[in-house]
Amino acid sequence: MLKARGIQTRAFSQVLSIQSLLQDALVATNYPQITPQNSLFRRSHQPQVDYQSSAILSLGLPPKERVPAAEAVKALLLEQDNAMLAQATVTAPGFLNVSLRSDWIAKHAFAMATTGVQPRSAGNAAQRVLVDFASPNMGKELHVGHLRSSVLGDTVSNLLEFQGHSVTRVSHVGDLGSAIATLLVQAMDEDDNQAQTLPPSAGLLAASATAADLGRWYERGKQRLVSDPAFKAQVDHVVLQLQQTDKSTWTQPWLQTCAISRAAFDVLYKRLNVTVHERGEATYLKLIPTVLDSLVSAGLAVESQGALCIFIDGPDKSPMLVRKQDGGFLYATTDLATLYSRIHGDRTIDPIAYDRVIYITDLSQSLHFRHLFEAAALAGWTKDRPVQLDHVGFGLVMGEDGTKLSSRKGGSTSLEALLNEAGLESASRSVVEDADHGYIGDAAVRYYDLAQHRERNYKFSYNSVLNLKGNTAVYLMYASARLQGIRRKAGREDSWASLLSQPNAADVLLEASGDWHPTERALALVLSQFEDALLETQAGWHPHLLCDYLFRVTTSFHAFYEACRVQNHAPRLVLCAATDAVLRRGLALLGISAIDRM
Ligand code: ARG
Repeated sequence: MLKARGIQTRAFSQVLSIQSLLQDALVATNYPQITPQNSLFRRSHQPQVDYQSSAILSLGLPPKERVPAAEAVKALLLEQDNAMLAQATVTAPGFLNVSLRSDWIAKHAFAMATTGVQPRSAGNAAQRVLVDFASPNMGKELHVGHLRSSVLGDTVSNLLEFQGHSVTRVSHVGDLGSAIATLLVQAMDEDDNQAQTLPPSAGLLAASATAADLGRWYERGKQRLVSDPAFKAQVDHVVLQLQQTDKSTWTQPWLQTCAISRAAFDVLYKRLNVTVHERGEATYLKLIPTVLDSLVSAGLAVESQGALCIFIDGPDKSPMLVRKQDGGFLYATTDLATLYSRIHGDRTIDPIAYDRVIYITDLSQSLHFRHLFEAAALAGWTKDRPVQLDHVGFGLVMGEDGTKLSSRKGGSTSLEALLNEAGLESASRSVVEDADHGYIGDAAVRYYDLAQHRERNYKFSYNSVLNLKGNTAVYLMYASARLQGIRRKAGREDSWASLLSQPNAADVLLEASGDWHPTERALALVLSQFEDALLETQAGWHPHLLCDYLFRVTTSFHAFYEACRVQNHAPRLVLCAATDAVLRRGLALLGISAIDRM
């Protein structure tokens, strides 16, 4: 489905235009069954066919009637036209094929070089959207799973902003739960730190403590949780202290932990070109009592064996646990309070009442989010105002052998180690001479992750990540740098503006389209499909579709560049300018800045 849910876009969709042409044609027929859903035109790889529709095949007509029906619709379609269609044909068993007029393609390719790739204004349809992503737990090192959440969330945010929505990017860090409590208790047993035997303070972390130290202490603590009941009891108690008023005992080491983690996270976000703002679980603590009260009085949250539960899926299915027997809160509790605030707005936390909230985590949390959204609906939080709630889940990153990804030296891969290794690999392959390999490695990892189907697990290999000929950041950045070279050679030192602003620039391309080389036409056609690629990408938040599209742009550009001389050829330079604009915009949406020379 191409129609992006809930998003009005003023931008131009080629597929939707052809579709509406078909819809108009059908008014005169007796096939009202054909709806926008089944009349969808798809890109075609056949020669002379740009788009194909299987609408007629979906009508359930007897086989003999299909081709004649398609012929009838075809005739109506051509009658409708218009400046868009060059020809329409029918192929067995009843496909409807169309090809577009070259001048029409040229017009839209030209728009890409100028206004087509500019951010939109969503006008009245602009939504206030909160995207919740990255969201690691304080005290842990970022690992490869956080790569996915971070780059997906950042890309989703970029796409929404590009469409003119107002976006708040939030990292809902875990700063309250058993992870940080485990770390704190363990830290006080480590020699480096100064445990205090007497309150008011539990102690202090060593001034030299690093994120790696925290990671190590946390891992040690995690092991002890299983084997050491006294330790576990202490951790449980600290969870309560953090959530309740005697948090002050832990204020110092808690603040230290958060500061160390935050600084380490920020370094990696920066390397990955991820923009996100921290607003942790602790922010919402003060809302919890009100929210639980309202859930209880709505009859939604009920006592069960001393705990407070919400039975979303009925009494015998696993409930949403919102308060433990010991009075402690859980992940679901803070998420309920958080969602309450996001839906209603909160004067001190964030006054915005969002229209849409998107959560980006791995797929293992699907049940949690289904429960969360359903609880919000049942509690009536969305009854006065529709709020769209989405969980955008993703699969795992696996090693080359299909098992959990580990670093060369063994052990699970920290994100930092993964990125560092990508930089080293890039240098050792001398993928590009004279480049900042750290930057290329980081960008290549980000792009590769986005190029994978979001819901599937994928195998990570540096060979694929850095493949010069594949659907990779290096391949696209290389093409983009080559376009800069063409521009400079054409005497356009800083930009293509002087070429494009000539009064007849559009006509130059339009005229030339009359005898385009097939590779020119193919390139222009792909460029004119930019908007459709964005719509497809957004419809189900699948950035790999945008990556696939940019890869098509790049391969089409290379084919064109090999077959056609561009020097001193104004219309072809206009095509180069359009390719450059589309490629850079596409890369920017994916969070990759193109480089000028490679
Ligand atoms: N901190 C959680 C984790 O590490 C992810 C939080 C996602 N966001 C949310 N609002 N639940 O798994």
